[in-house]
Amino acid sequence: MFSRSLGKQGASITLCGEEIALFRDRRRVYAINDRCPHRGIPLAVARREFPGMITCIYHGWTFDLATGNLDVVLTDGPDSPICGKVQVRTYPVAERAGLIWVYPGDEPPPPVEQDMPPQLIAGGTIVGKVSRRRGNWRYASENGIDDGHGKFLHRHSLWTTFRMMAAWSKARMEPDGEWRWLIRVGERVEMADTYPRIGRWPAKRPWWKFKSKRPRIGIALPGWLLVKETDWTGFEVYVPSDADNYYAMLIGVLPDTGLRGLLFRLRYKLYIGPLFHGQFNEEDQWIIQKIRIPPERLYRPDVSITAWRTHCEKHARGATTAAPSPAEELVESGV
Ligand code: FES
Ligand SMILES: [Fe+2]
Repeated sequence: MFSRSLGKQGASITLCGEEIALFRDRRRVYAINDRCPHRGIPLAVARREFPGMITCIYHGWTFDLATGNLDVVLTDGPDSPICGKVQVRTYPVAERAGLIWVYPGDEPPPPVEQDMPPQLIAGGTIVGKVSRRRGNWRYASENGIDDGHGKFLHRHSLWTTFRMMAAWSKARMEPDGEWRWLIRVGERVEMADTYPRIGRWPAKRPWWKFKSKRPRIGIALPGWLLVKETDWTGFEVYVPSDADNYYAMLIGVLPDTGLRGLLFRLRYKLYIGPLFHGQFNEEDQWIIQKIRIPPERLYRPDVSITAWRTHCEKHARGATTAAPSPAEELVESGV
């Protein structure tokens, strides 16, 4: 979630099936399992009476935010014998780039920077929004890199009104030198073509005179999508909440601050936000919750999806196979 949306009140999230309560205490963020071990009340609604601690709203069990230890039980007196015998799980948490990152894994947590694109760490003016959505996070990330759908599903979006939309293209997936992105590279792009039975498609739009630059699209573990426009960069993060829901973090970054940053905020509020992270992205979400696979029958442009799947199988943390470099694996899979 965005740092700015966590205030004194606790918030609850579900991450990889774990219910987690988030608190801000004297500027630091803490993440703790969202369940009081006494009688199962969510700790996100706990009272905040004592610094560094939360007090369960039901019977006043009071936990240390950093360790999760039950240190005081208000309604059982200062000598309560249960103190020190109960602990709630806490999670590593960090704030970077104006966002809160929680690690729900069992392994020792990697430095959060390792999993963040350098363009985002570099900072600047960062805008965006987060929402919990119905659907599986894998479908969301595969849709993000899906080469064919942009040309058809999004053809009539407001966001693409002034962009030239290709009829079809051939693409390959290629590692990027800068980070662990797999970049989608168009090899052949046809803006219109003549099809059997159909004839010419699509009809040219009269205002398609000026050539719009197409964004650079890439995908990376864990759940990142890159949409690099000319002057700003879009990131999307698909975070598994549970098996049927995910969080979509939609982020826009301009490297500058100051007046240019202010103008970018305005542009985001009036244009990029409502059209790209709004209507355009809602078309994707509308589809993601309708996907029913397996089975599936893939076609040529889906090389974007299969290359990503191969990459995940080899490089996801905990993947059992030895990890070749992205370049080696693209050769292996014949992409
Ligand atoms: S349920 Fe939390 S103190 Fe009783
Ligand atoms: Fe899309």
